[in-house]
Amino acid sequence: MTNQSKAGAESRAYTALKEVFQAGRPIIFIRTAEEARAHTLLQEIGRKLFAGSTTVWSWSLTTGLSHPESTNREKLGPDAVLDFIASHRQKGIFQLKDFHHFMDDPLIRRRLRDLYGLCLDSGKFIVITSPGRTIPEELGRQIALVELHTPDAEELLHFLRSEAETIARQGFRVDTSEPVLFALSRALQGLTIDESRHALRRALSVAGALDINSLQSLVDEKKLVVNRTGLVQYVSDSTRIEDVGGLEYLKAWLTERRKLFIERDSMSAEIVPKGLLVMGVSGCGKSLSVKAIASCFGLPLYRIEMSEVFSGRHGNPDAAFVEACRTVEAVAPAVVWFDEIEMGITGRATDDASLSRIFAFFLTWMQEKARGLFVAATANRIDLLPAEMIRKGRFDEVFFIDLPTEEERSEVFRIHLEKRGIDPVPLQLHRLKIITQGWTGAEIEQCVVSALTQVRLQNRELTFDDLHEAAQNVIPLSKTMREQVDHIRSWAYDRALRASPKESRK
Ligand SMILES: Nc1ncnc2c1ncn2[C@@H]1O[C@H](COP(=O)(O)OP(=O)(O)OP(=O)(O)O)[C@@H](O)[C@H]1O
Ligand SMILES: [Mg+2]
Repeated sequence: MTNQSKAGAESRAYTALKEVFQAGRPIIFIRTAEEARAHTLLQEIGRKLFAGSTTVWSWSLTTGLSHPESTNREKLGPDAVLDFIASHRQKGIFQLKDFHHFMDDPLIRRRLRDLYGLCLDSGKFIVITSPGRTIPEELGRQIALVELHTPDAEELLHFLRSEAETIARQGFRVDTSEPVLFALSRALQGLTIDESRHALRRALSVAGALDINSLQSLVDEKKLVVNRTGLVQYVSDSTRIEDVGGLEYLKAWLTERRKLFIERDSMSAEIVPKGLLVMGVSGCGKSLSVKAIASCFGLPLYRIEMSEVFSGRHGNPDAAFVEACRTVEAVAPAVVWFDEIEMGITGRATDDASLSRIFAFFLTWMQEKARGLFVAATANRIDLLPAEMIRKGRFDEVFFIDLPTEEERSEVFRIHLEKRGIDPVPLQLHRLKIITQGWTGAEIEQCVVSALTQVRLQNRELTFDDLHEAAQNVIPLSKTMREQVDHIRSWAYDRALRASPKESRK
């Protein structure tokens, strides 16, 4: 992928369609909810691939069959439209819009099989467009399936050029320079053509013009659309790497990889950072670190909720997971966060076969996904994950975040005090080192918050004694769930890289 588009370059959707036409497949099923977009692509096929010698017809239940250059419409039923195609003497692409509803009919299925033979090598193509995947099994071999994913930058650029003309004709000011259109097309990635059109309308209504200042509006619209799926969430969070206490090795690794990631387009695929898996004790900063990665890389962060995938609310988990991965791929460049990736394994909502299909898909996807996606997966019970998931090559690194060391605990105290406007120096935090042994970062934050609440109620300044008193009320997880914490630590011992140096013995 390059940063600038070449004039006349092909979009991913066009290339996918072109290949089935070139293979001479006479019956094509395009899975998409965007009929108009499919029609535009078919016209492009007619124009470019067949050099204008092939007409693109369209048929729907309400309008019947229509020829592109004529306003006459023939009110034909599904059976009659097949008759028309069978007896048609010229080349043609026939887009059938509501046809999937009739494919359960044995007569229609038989007729499609007959038409397959008749249309083969005749320059006639039947293209069924449907939002669902309803190809009857017996036609599986005759019908070529093409899935239209959301448009890529190339297709969006094409769309933007033509929309810009329309908008300019309506009297709005439009910046049509290539760098601006390119930036706008990147912002629209992840949306369908219809959604993009709405996003442009919204940007126009906000600013009265379409130019580089429209970017924010487009990005806002995209967040709304992505969040609406329920599977993927845009995480707006401004956690910086300085807000994370300790984890020195993890931070150093990220800073190094950041450079490689930024230069990804000019690098060979195996050097481009793919992602990391972060495991560890609950409350020690896994989620926090992922948020910091996004800001360190200067990318938006999207979270895939594994619990949503397995909830059944989005249909079968396999399909929901694939859809979630495709959605985030379309919004690249971005950081994608699979939170509690082991979730499905401990959940009871799914069977083993489905789970192994999901993990198999995930592993292949990790290898093939777009370069601009950096995957950050977090796990508590990493021992439940299949071994191949952890093996090198899938993720660039597996990090283990342990309970913070003495030094790290001081740093976490400092961060949380400063965040609340308190100077930590006079408090002599090192005096808390014994009492806070075995604490997580979350427990440190809880201690700061509860001490501060107390002093605010009494309207006075925070002292060391307040922190010490609050600390006495904290019952750390490493005590209450000792066995589980020990288990995680011993499992990680030789399987993962520590995110921070070991506690030094003084
Ligand atoms: N290293 C740290 N530096 C600063 N704050 C921390 C650190 N670790 C934890 N915290 C505080 O504790 C909160 C909880 O941490 P976080 O959500 O990252 O834990 P987690 O490891 O993801 O836990 P879980 O497994 O429960 O999801 C953070 O929002 C942050 O305020
Ligand atoms: Mg978390």
